[in-house]
Amino acid sequence: MAGTDGAAYLRLFINIDHVATLRQARRTDEPDPAQAAVLCERAGADGITAHLREDRRHIQDADLDALVKVSRTPLNLEIACTDEMLGIAERLRPHHVTFVPERRQEVTTEGGLDVTREPERLRDAVARLAAAGIVSSLFIDADPRMIDASRAAGAAAIELHTGRYAHAPSDPATLQALRESARHGRALGLAVHAGHGLTARNVAPVAALTDIEELNIGHSIVSRAVFIGIEEAVREMRAAMGRGAVDGALHPLAPPRL
Ligand code: PXP
Repeated sequence: MAGTDGAAYLRLFINIDHVATLRQARRTDEPDPAQAAVLCERAGADGITAHLREDRRHIQDADLDALVKVSRTPLNLEIACTDEMLGIAERLRPHHVTFVPERRQEVTTEGGLDVTREPERLRDAVARLAAAGIVSSLFIDADPRMIDASRAAGAAAIELHTGRYAHAPSDPATLQALRESARHGRALGLAVHAGHGLTARNVAPVAALTDIEELNIGHSIVSRAVFIGIEEAVREMRAAMGRGAVDGALHPLAPPRL
């Protein structure tokens, strides 16, 4: 059972990529992801996440400039580890950068980063961002090897890929893997984030893992927003997170520690 010594507050970051996806379907100027960010913040989001993909399929460079101007909460910029993207991060100075693997053919980020593949490149990138005052997080599968390699790369945080859990939430092994990985990451001194495929229906058991301090949720919020509006979708998610009592230790409400 998770103890009460875990993260004091579970932050909710809203990924607004798919607001841009809807706009890009017509290459017009609405809906505006920066405006969506403001509404999410008004509804209680602790931060905003945006993924600038190399193919610019949803978020555009100008969206990030607008976001930085209007947003009042920390920005989590998701990028592939490339020179171009590192330069953009240095210019924008988001609170944190999450490195994600990117394949042009994929519909969404399909798996975690293989941190063991080019460790020097990642280590250099993490150091380069740290020099600019930017915290680095690595999006990885719930795999102890990847967690150890993330620590070795100098990352301050990991984001656990929750896709496997989201596809099979009733398989106890998927949640157990997240629980063990979150504990392992925290024991190494890493901040533990999680995300991918989380919805108001499946979020509670993940939200109850007190070693996790931040969730990144996008698609289901934007999907719900079509029917109930984005502010209500954020509130609905926050309420669903609060129902995560399966580990017997709810995150007590406390101010965000960013
Ligand atoms: N975290 C990362 C690193 C992601 O790439 C994504 C998807 O863009 C998410 C979280 C959010 O996933 P979803 O849109 O399924 O909520």
